[in-house]
Amino acid sequence: MRQTKPSPKKSSPEEEKIKIGVIGTGYVGLVTAVCLAELGHQVIGTDVVREKIDLALAGKPHIYEPGLEELLKKNLKKGHLNFYHDLDKTIREADVLFVCVSTPQLPDGRADMSYVEGVSRRIAENLNAYKLIVEKSTVPVRTSAWIKRVINLYRHNDQDFDVASNPEFLREGSAVHDFLHPDRIIIGVESKRAEKILRKIYARFTEKLLVTNIDTAELIKHASNSFLAMKISFINLISELCEKTEADVELVARGMGLDPRIGPQFLRAGLGYGGSCFPKDVRALIHIGEEMGVDFGLLKEVDRINLRRIRIFVDKIKQALWILRDKKIALLGLSFKPETDDIRNAPSIAIIGELQKERAYLRLYDPQAMENMKKLFPEKEPELVYCQSPYQALEGANAGLIITEWPEFVDLDLNRVKSIMSNPILIDGRNIFDPAKVRALGFEYYSMGRK
Ligand code: UGA
Repeated sequence: MRQTKPSPKKSSPEEEKIKIGVIGTGYVGLVTAVCLAELGHQVIGTDVVREKIDLALAGKPHIYEPGLEELLKKNLKKGHLNFYHDLDKTIREADVLFVCVSTPQLPDGRADMSYVEGVSRRIAENLNAYKLIVEKSTVPVRTSAWIKRVINLYRHNDQDFDVASNPEFLREGSAVHDFLHPDRIIIGVESKRAEKILRKIYARFTEKLLVTNIDTAELIKHASNSFLAMKISFINLISELCEKTEADVELVARGMGLDPRIGPQFLRAGLGYGGSCFPKDVRALIHIGEEMGVDFGLLKEVDRINLRRIRIFVDKIKQALWILRDKKIALLGLSFKPETDDIRNAPSIAIIGELQKERAYLRLYDPQAMENMKKLFPEKEPELVYCQSPYQALEGANAGLIITEWPEFVDLDLNRVKSIMSNPILIDGRNIFDPAKVRALGFEYYSMGRK
């Protein structure tokens, strides 16, 4: 076959090496920056919190996320990744800007979009060349339209730009894995140019791409999180009924999950959903619905059922101990779920608050989240003590609570636990133990939706 010399192509901006800026290096932003660098892109991360940038530059993530530190170090070393304190410089140097700033919950349940607005204004002021602005934070539908309007209002020139939505679906605790092994990548765009750039960024995952318009992409994210929250609240409601009958929620969930239309995931009954996403996103969607005249009463109920989980759990503690005052209670698990140090909306916070009201003595243990929890509940001997191991927390306790299903608790030596507790009473908010086995060891055992 005749070899043809490739003709020298005129390079368009899309074909040149893409330089990506990631604005906001929280949980989503830091993982996004590190993983985009791992995909081979040139990435700059920036954040208003100086300490986060200093730590990142030193190869130390400010959060605990399995696999993150290793990839951070690797990509810093390779020169694929850098971090700036300076937002303006990041904006000017990057071709594509991923907006990963937080959208916290306002007291009325709406998402606070002021950080997104602030960043949009700064982008407008630094628009020195074509930029693609990609919104990655979970935001209400129509946010991209607002970003576009803000940039148009505040820019000093007529530089071209595009806005796109590329919602993030990673789960804390497996964020790096989720980013690098996505089940879908949603790209909401309104121009071919934006689509082409995003296709290039995600070239490795072409078969996972779903390209939509921007409103659709934004709504896919909100609808997905709210649907998963609904699944959890549904099984928790069923678990309330199981407690009044002879049914076992674990088996009900297993039986339901065998139907491929339902699927087995997110049917674990327990203390309900926490974290920075589900509680906030469910309430934000209720508000979006209200603003647009769509009644999301369904999601209001999802939220109510979720809040009820704490009361049901505390009632079990009272059922076991009657009077909580001066009782020594071990709390195992403080993070909102395993494999993270994140305590945002963790059930443990509400449970600690309830037990403090009753004036119990609390012994707390978590493999990763104790430093974060100390900022909220400082140590105070003897009322509230942080322990070095689950065994230390359980020593002399009148009851042990399982609040987060860390593997370390699943693997506890229950014979040893029984020998060190004052009263062998376990109240398991996550159904990690087999009731028959635990009882056979001599424990009084309470769990969620099971006898
Ligand atoms: C969630 C979504 O799963 C991600 O897809 C999404 O990207 C992320 O929110 C986000 O919007 O940023 P995450 O909050 O990290 O991820 O954690 P999940 O693993 O989804 O768990 C959420 C909560 O539901 C946890 O409190 C967990 O304990 C609870 N849960 C989960 C249950 O109570 N039962 C279950 O069966 C599953």
